[in-house]
Amino acid sequence: MKKTPYVIAGNWKMNTTPSEAANLISTLIESGIQATQDVEVLVCPPFLSIPAVVSGIGTSGIQCGAQDCSHEDSGAFTGQVSAVAIQESGCSHVLVGHSERRQYQGETNALCNAKILSALRQKLTAVYCIGETAEQRANGEMKETLQQQIKQGLHGVTDCGNIIIAYEPVWAIGQQAATPEQIRESHAVVRTELVGMFGATANTIKILYGGSLNADNAAKILAVEHVNGGLIGGASLKPDAFASIVGTAKELQK
Ligand code: PGA
Repeated sequence: MKKTPYVIAGNWKMNTTPSEAANLISTLIESGIQATQDVEVLVCPPFLSIPAVVSGIGTSGIQCGAQDCSHEDSGAFTGQVSAVAIQESGCSHVLVGHSERRQYQGETNALCNAKILSALRQKLTAVYCIGETAEQRANGEMKETLQQQIKQGLHGVTDCGNIIIAYEPVWAIGQQAATPEQIRESHAVVRTELVGMFGATANTIKILYGGSLNADNAAKILAVEHVNGGLIGGASLKPDAFASIVGTAKELQK
């Protein structure tokens, strides 16, 4: 049976200047990366590289997302970028609450919630990143952490059609991927919480796995129940690796 179309998303983090981003997107396309009915492909460059990526995407079907947005539409918020501007720049998605923003910018679930609502006002798809730290896992708090992040982050969301969840255990990012069994367990927690909040329609919310997903482990991870794609950091900057992951997702759809 065909799975729901995978979303393979690249998080470029603070890598690429505008000219480097133009090169990277054209190399990705030369590597044969194309979105299809079965696999959506998303890349999230730094803000200033968005125009280069949007214009480089051509007819590949690859979509562009931002890595963050402001909680407000406009006003006296020096240094922030609104979802309004992100949408106008040609992005379809925005990451919210990545663990690096939670860690280095002190973002809370409540702030993520305001950002998600602001993204949804602009009809952007919010890719809401959640995940427990190593300490929370060691203390047996994985389930509770994910439940809180979902409950508080999605508070007031009435239509979950433009929500994607990225489950990224903090301890796995840039380290070593979680095991398929750990991923299965966490994704089941996320699915149950979403269904509790939104009802049966939440079965269509995509839940991506992130944290050291690469060309070697993609097949195992993407095959796990409730894994609807991946959010990929390091490997998304390597055209061959990213192309291989997209290819794996296409294979799994057959
Ligand atoms: P990684 O990053 O693939 O390099 O572990 C994932 C992420 O932080 O989104």
